[in-house]
Amino acid sequence: MRIFLDTASVAEIREMADLIDGVTTNPSLVAKEGGSFREILKEICSLVSGPVSAEVLSLETHGMVSEARQLAKVADNVVIKIPMTVAGMRAVRELSAEGIATNVTLIFSTTQALWAAKCGATFVSPFVGRIDDRAGDGMDVVDEILEVYGNYGFHTEVIVASVRHVRHVVESALLGADIATVPYKVALQLFDHPLTDEGIQRFLKDWEGVSS
Ligand code: E4P
Repeated sequence: MRIFLDTASVAEIREMADLIDGVTTNPSLVAKEGGSFREILKEICSLVSGPVSAEVLSLETHGMVSEARQLAKVADNVVIKIPMTVAGMRAVRELSAEGIATNVTLIFSTTQALWAAKCGATFVSPFVGRIDDRAGDGMDVVDEILEVYGNYGFHTEVIVASVRHVRHVVESALLGADIATVPYKVALQLFDHPLTDEGIQRFLKDWEGVSS
């Protein structure tokens, strides 16, 4: 399973760039950073060779497609994030025909993911944390999407998004999701175990008596 970093922070991306497989941003994450979206995107794409998702803001097909064409010019690894709406799916069809990669975002149900795949989306992003927040089960939705895609041989890849904790990542991997996109804090927690730290300290202490 590939791990993407879910952030627009250049500092966080720079720190993890050699380990991560891609980046996802969204308008809220970009707004937190301030500055020019295009410049931030350009810098992120220069740090990471994998896919970097950048979201359009227009809500109608024509506007989405023209924003997407501009964003796609920033770098070869830009993926256009399109919201899951009827207008969005028309844009995905058009962009897919032009060879522009898309990530259909704000997916909360299996039928939404089915439509995105039928329209030729490169990626879909089910938001598991936000589903859980509303007393649903985000991982059940991921499980269903993977089964449906398997049934019909869709090539659309599933990015588990809105990840809140390490368990979401474990469950994504157990289900065979293609990618999990994780906040910086969760990315670091994936490496962490107190017994590893304790073990290193014990080995170093025991080694003190050994002569080289
Ligand atoms: C995914 O691509 C989104 O950027 C992100 O995962 C949303 O996460 P949130 O629900 O924590 O805002």
